[in-house]
Amino acid sequence: MSNDSKEQQPLRLGILASGRGSNAQAIHAVIQSGALLSVSIAAIASNKKNAPVLAWAEDTRLPCEAFDNKDFQSRELQEASIIKYFKNQGVNLVVLAGYMRIVSPDFIEAFGGQVLNIHPSLLPKHGGPGMVGHKVHSAVLAAGDTESGCTVHWVTPTVDGGPIVWQERVPVLPGDNPDTLAARVLAAEHQAYPLSLQQLASQPYAFAL
Ligand code: GRF
Repeated sequence: MSNDSKEQQPLRLGILASGRGSNAQAIHAVIQSGALLSVSIAAIASNKKNAPVLAWAEDTRLPCEAFDNKDFQSRELQEASIIKYFKNQGVNLVVLAGYMRIVSPDFIEAFGGQVLNIHPSLLPKHGGPGMVGHKVHSAVLAAGDTESGCTVHWVTPTVDGGPIVWQERVPVLPGDNPDTLAARVLAAEHQAYPLSLQQLASQPYAFAL
């Protein structure tokens, strides 16, 4: 499905996360503040049943469900269940926020390409298969980069290769290690996701699979 010249409609987010969920919490906080009009969290799903993000979502009374890797014989079956859950919740934009599993082309297609991801570097630098977490920050430091940041991008079958929606930059400081750099980039992520959602909600956008 193409969404060229897509008409504006309220964004109903389906957030997929595997861990602590600080990006999900940042998005929720900005929605609660009233600064993200026409955006709501319709559902949160995790591929890890013990993920802290699910405990937070329950406490916050947001619709959430676990689709644990161990409970499915294949990624396809797991994704089919997530698709069904998100569709039932009226999700029209999937937000990957620390989701530690590659989504399949069929999953992306099921949402007409409306799937976003956030990556902790300035793509196209330091992205691609296996480039997650501290591996990314270690690569930035090893390369001697003087700045890093994060990238919100559309998800396509090429890992970390989809069109860029938003980037936030941070400096790499003398004496940085992967932990200090990760913390600075994470704070930038918490700005970048809400800002990119605000942009998508407030103006017609075009993204075709
Ligand atoms: C972030 O660094 C993000 O870039 C990466 O995973 C981390 C997610 O953190 N994809 P959280 O679960 O949102 O706290």
